[in-house]
Amino acid sequence: MKFKKLLGFFVLLLCVSVEADDCPMKIDPPAVVVKYGDPVSVNCTVFTEHVGMGWVAKQNPVPNQPGVQFLLWTVENLTVWDINPQCFANFKGVPQCLRKVSVTVYNTPDSVSIRFENHTGPLVEGRQYRLVCEVQNVAPVQNLTVKWYKGTEVVNITLYPGESKTPVNVSSTLLITPNRTDDGAQYKCVAELQLGSEREWSPPAVESEALSFPVHYPPVISEGDKNVIVDQGSMVSLNCTVQGNPSPLFQWTSPSGNVDFLTPKKNNSIISADSSGVYTCSASNYLGSTTRTVSITVVKKDYTIFAVIPVAILFLLIAFILFLMKRKRQYGNYSVSKRHSEHTVNPNSIPMQCLISNGAHQSLQKSTADTEDQD
Ligand SMILES: *[C@@H]1O[C@H](CO)[C@@H](O)[C@H](O)[C@H]1NC(C)=O
Ligand SMILES: *[C@@H]1O[C@H](CO)[C@@H](O)[C@H](O)[C@H]1NC(C)=O
Ligand SMILES: *[C@@H]1O[C@H](CO)[C@@H](O)[C@H](O)[C@H]1NC(C)=O
Ligand SMILES: *[C@@H]1O[C@H](CO)[C@@H](O)[C@H](O)[C@H]1NC(C)=O
Ligand SMILES: *[C@@H]1O[C@H](CO)[C@@H](O)[C@H](O)[C@H]1NC(C)=O
Ligand SMILES: *[C@@H]1O[C@H](CO)[C@@H](O)[C@H](O)[C@H]1NC(C)=O
Ligand SMILES: *[C@@H]1O[C@H](CO)[C@@H](O)[C@H](O)[C@H]1NC(C)=O
Ligand SMILES: *[C@@H]1O[C@H](CO)[C@@H](O)[C@H](O)[C@H]1NC(C)=O
Ligand SMILES: *[C@@H]1O[C@H](CO)[C@@H](O)[C@H](O)[C@H]1NC(C)=O
Repeated sequence: MKFKKLLGFFVLLLCVSVEADDCPMKIDPPAVVVKYGDPVSVNCTVFTEHVGMGWVAKQNPVPNQPGVQFLLWTVENLTVWDINPQCFANFKGVPQCLRKVSVTVYNTPDSVSIRFENHTGPLVEGRQYRLVCEVQNVAPVQNLTVKWYKGTEVVNITLYPGESKTPVNVSSTLLITPNRTDDGAQYKCVAELQLGSEREWSPPAVESEALSFPVHYPPVISEGDKNVIVDQGSMVSLNCTVQGNPSPLFQWTSPSGNVDFLTPKKNNSIISADSSGVYTCSASNYLGSTTRTVSITVVKKDYTIFAVIPVAILFLLIAFILFLMKRKRQYGNYSVSKRHSEHTVNPNSIPMQCLISNGAHQSLQKSTADTEDQD
């Protein structure tokens, strides 16, 4: 055993200066990715005559062997993280050849778990929370990617710089500020080892369980009619559609101050509207409260038909009388202003509307005329 180690050391020393691409040897496969505990086998072939070949490795080394052109390094189950196997060949009068094999020993995480940091129970809209993903016993960590999913969408990715061949425990943190649309959303984290482009080198990803949670938020009342006109005695449906978590408790207050308590799950209420006024719906849960008002105008139906026509006639009559009076007044003023303008301006330019509007304008025009007289 000691001799073997010494030989290995010797071989290593010799090789530092000689390892070159022009060595007449081939490694197949030149790179392997193997799961910790799994078997592995690498074939080393020497193309020229040699005095012996072998394998240096921390597990199952193969001592110098003459008379063979290829030699396998085989391990039943690989249990050395830093295995670093090398094939060597000795030649007469030529320096020794040494070829490294790239071996990546990996371990998919033993467990991937997700939790809140310092929090239990429902979340409140707008507050910030930290989700933590814990990945246990993974190697090599530099090839690990932790992806955060919200539903099927990747919301963040954590990479792990640095280098370690042996397994480590790592974690990733996701900051979330949930809103009402996140109520019941599912979060999970997925640990993936990316061990090269070839598909067989990428071991399956390990997922955490999905975490979903309720999001609490204060009530919001949907927009609706602001003014409603109803016939007296008929029923009116007042909508108070509220969104909130936990389900808000809500009530209608009538203009007389009567409060109608409704069950928390009920969305709208049918009331008998017998007095005009402002009805108020208020909704609340432990996070806040809000109100919306509906103005109801109760119309006495029986009277309307009979009342509208005489009122309309009366209105037209008054309008007509006013119109006649207005015309009369216009005419009188016009003749007065015409006299004023005789020796000053063109009568066509006299603004009728000024004269009829108010006294202030009249006096202003008068003073203008006076000024012109002085010129
Ligand atoms: C290692 O290999 C032996 C047989 O060669 C087997 O019995 C054992 O279960 C293996 N160990 C692991 C961890 O796979
Ligand atoms: C090793 O490779 C040589 C050619 O390079 C081939 O002849 C031989 O069969 C291989 N051995 C194994 C066990 O694959
Ligand atoms: C979580 O709570 C522990 C103990 O209460 C405290 O030491 C730690 O700093 C907290 N972590 C954060 C991120 O607030
Ligand atoms: C990882 O965590 C597990 C469980 O806490 C522990 O048994 C193990 O020793 C840890 N591994 C490392 C490399 O710290
Ligand atoms: C996503 O990760 C980056 C880098 O780690 C970090 O700066 C960012 O805050 C993260 N985003 C969220 C939403 O956690
Ligand atoms: C809720 O949060 C998402 C992102 O998580 C954002 O896209 C959306 O606009 C937010 N909705 C509201 C109502 O704030
Ligand atoms: C592991 O990650 C390192 C650094 O990102 C990369 O250079 C290397 O190719 C990866 N290993 C494999 C086997 O893909
Ligand atoms: C209540 O909602 C129904 C249907 O959405 C609608 O027909 C009705 O006009 C609404 N009533 C009020 C008072 O908003
Ligand atoms: C109110 O009604 C809307 C749609 O009509 C529904 O989506 C909502 O869940 C209802 N809210 C409650 C508290 O029943």
